[in-house]
Formats: sequence, structure tokens, C-alpha cells
Amino acid sequence: PKKYNIASIPADGIGIEVVAATIDVIEHLVKTLKTFEIEFTHFPWGTAYYKKTGEYLPDDALDVLRKFDACLFGAVGAPDVPDHISLWGLLLALRGPLQLYANVRPVRMFPGTRPRLADCKPSDIDWVLVRENSEGEYAGQGGRSHLHQPWETATEVAIFTRVGIERIMRFAFETARSRPRKFLTVVTKSNSMRNGMVLWDEIAREVARDFPDVTWDKMLVDAMTVRMVCKPASLDTIVGTNLHMDILSDLAAALAGSIGVAPSSNLDPTRRSPSIFEPVHGSAFDITGKGIANPVATIWSAGEMLRWIGEASAADVLMDALEQVCRNGVLTPDLGGTADTKSVAAAVSAEIEKIVASQASS
Ligand code: NAD
Ligand code: IPM
Ligand code: MN
Repeated sequence: PKKYNIASIPADGIGIEVVAATIDVIEHLVKTLKTFEIEFTHFPWGTAYYKKTGEYLPDDALDVLRKFDACLFGAVGAPDVPDHISLWGLLLALRGPLQLYANVRPVRMFPGTRPRLADCKPSDIDWVLVRENSEGEYAGQGGRSHLHQPWETATEVAIFTRVGIERIMRFAFETARSRPRKFLTVVTKSNSMRNGMVLWDEIAREVARDFPDVTWDKMLVDAMTVRMVCKPASLDTIVGTNLHMDILSDLAAALAGSIGVAPSSNLDPTRRSPSIFEPVHGSAFDITGKGIANPVATIWSAGEMLRWIGEASAADVLMDALEQVCRNGVLTPDLGGTADTKSVAAAVSAEIEKIVASQASS
């Protein structure tokens, strides 16, 4: 059978807990299906590694990762290291340099979980957020001068390129086209941001001409937060800049139930680099070590990974199992339940066995 090589980088905090639970589930899925093989190679990159070596990543990390079919990532960040050091040392040192320019963040409500909004039906939230993942506000350009003087100045320069905007816009229109509603909302802030965001709007209009079958509209990001809360059913595929979608994806996850269920795929649609799959959430210092982190976001991310490497039917089994576990009420505390990380993972593995057995007998 076909064999895939996956790099695993659990990194820090609950990242370590949810990646371990996810790998157990994936190994169980592979053993049950017997249609392909997966070998996970573990990398210790994270804050413990940084404290030992002075770096979050070794110098050859990008070349090492390029040999893999994909990468499963946990979360990085520790209470005793400034967040900009840990994030730029590890995660942001991979997304940009590997040119994983499309960050796809699907959001929907799982069966059996209660809506955050009183008048919201599960079918009202079924979105795909497409986040520009290589430039914009995360370009890392800027600096500080006149340190500690009263006139100290800091700049954080957002960089928008025609190439960068056009490729994410095309990706978003294609994503919208692949979904039943064929509807895209372009998030912008071209009222106050008169350069990058105006270019963003212009390119949206240009790219839209190549997608006459896709309906689209434009929303200012502030008003978009209101629309997500007040008219969730009016949205489907959504595209926005690196920072705007960082913020909107946490809001979206919370509206759908919990940040603990939100997956994310950092894709290189050209497939020159291995794509990275990770939960939207961080290392969650407040619950680290308690064993109660919700593994659903990471398990779903691994499902997206299976789809990306070409194992869609395995991904379907995994997602059916995940939904059944939620329907059965095996939920972690963030979703109002009492289950722990390991029992959710074990329940998913048990459902996988049931699903595969019933497929074999039918
Ligand atoms: P966070 O996502 O880690 O946590 C926010 C809240 O959500 C916390 O109350 C946490 O307990 C809860 N939560 C998150 N994931 C959960 C899960 N799977 N199950 C149950 N509850 C969950 O965000 P934060 O507190 O702002 O950041 C903590 C650290 O993580 C910081 O160092 C930050 O920079 C880093 N971070 C890393 C990533 C990443 O690696 N991709 C993403 C976001 C934040
Ligand atoms: C995310 C995270 C990261 C981001 C941080 C940790 C750098 O919040 O993946 O959403 O801002 O992209
Ligand atoms: Mn975020």
C-alpha cells in the first residue's frame, strides 16, 4: 500500500496533548482501513528545545520539512518566553518561508453541541474562512527607533503585493465555486486603509470577472463582526487579510461552539512545499497539563491533511466518527461536557471501527 511520511511538531502546552491524541486516532484509522500507511516523524521543536539550543528551529528545518508529504502542528507559546519570540521563531518562520499562502479555516457547528447564539441553528454556520497567510500585516517589516525616549517610534508595516493578493483571491473564488452556494464575501478595510486595502478591492473586482458563476460581496471588517453575529446564515466563503482573518477566525470558532473545534490548513496550493495542518487555537497555558484540551480541532485538521494528500475516503470516515462522538455527547468542558482529551480520542477510534465494520458488511 501507499505510504505517506508526515512530520509532527507538537511544540508546546496543549499542542503536545492534542497532537498525541490525534496521532493515536490516525494510527487507529490507518490500522483499521488497511488501505494506506502513514509514518509520523516527531520533531522536538518548541520552547523546551529553544531553552536548550537558543533557537526554535534548526538552520536546516525548511529543507528537513520539504522531504515530508505534510506536517501536523500543535501550538507554540510558553508563559516565560515573549510571544513574538516563540511565534516568529517557529510557526511564522514556517508559514511565510514555505509560501503556505492559503490558510483555510472551515467553521461549522458539530451535532450535539449547543449554539452560542440563542437564535442560531446549526445550519446557519457553515463557513470557510480563507486567510491570506504570507504577507499583509504579518510581513514582519518595521522597526523601532529612539528606544525608551518619549519620542520613541515603532512601525509595523503591512505589505500587500499584486501577486500575493491575486493568488489568494483566485484561491478564494475557487473555494467558493466548489461549494453549493457559490458565494464569496471579501473582507476589507478600504475606508481607512487607502493603499493596500484599495489594491485588495481592485484585485477582487478583477479576479471576479473570471468567476461569473460566483456571486460575491464586500464587507468592511468592523461591520463583518456584526454580520457574523447577527446574520450568520448570510455568509458562506469568506476571504480576508492575514490579520483580519486571524481575528475573525477566533470569533467564528467561538460562535460555532468553541475554539477547541476549529481546524486550519496552511496550504501551498502549488504543492511545492509540504502543507501544515494545525488547530486554530494556541498552547492554552490555563488548561495545560489538565488533560481536558479539546482534541477535535486537531483531529479535524488531520482529516483535512488526509484529504490534501489524497486519502479523501479515510478523511470521510474520520469526520463521520468525529460527528458521531459529538452527537453521543462525548464533549470536553469547553463544549459543556465532562470528557477528557483521551476519552474523546478513544471514542473517535471506537466509532471509526464501527463505521469501517458497517461499510465492510454492506
Ligand atoms: P489560546 O488559543 O491558547 O487560548 C484561548 C482560550 O481558549 C483559553 O481559555 C484556552 O483554555 C481555550 N482553548 C484553546 N484551545 C482549547 C482547546 N483545544 N480545548 C479547550 N479550550 C481551549 O490563546 P491565547 O491564550 O491567546 O494564547 C496562548 C499562547 O498560545 C500564546 O503564547 C500565544 O501566542 C500562543 N498561540 C499559538 C498559536 C499557534 O501555535 N498556532 C495560536 C494562538 C495562540
Ligand atoms: C493563529 C495564531 C497565530 C497567528 C499566532 C500565534 C502567530 O493566532 O494561527 O491564528 O496570528 O496567525
Ligand atoms: Mn489566531
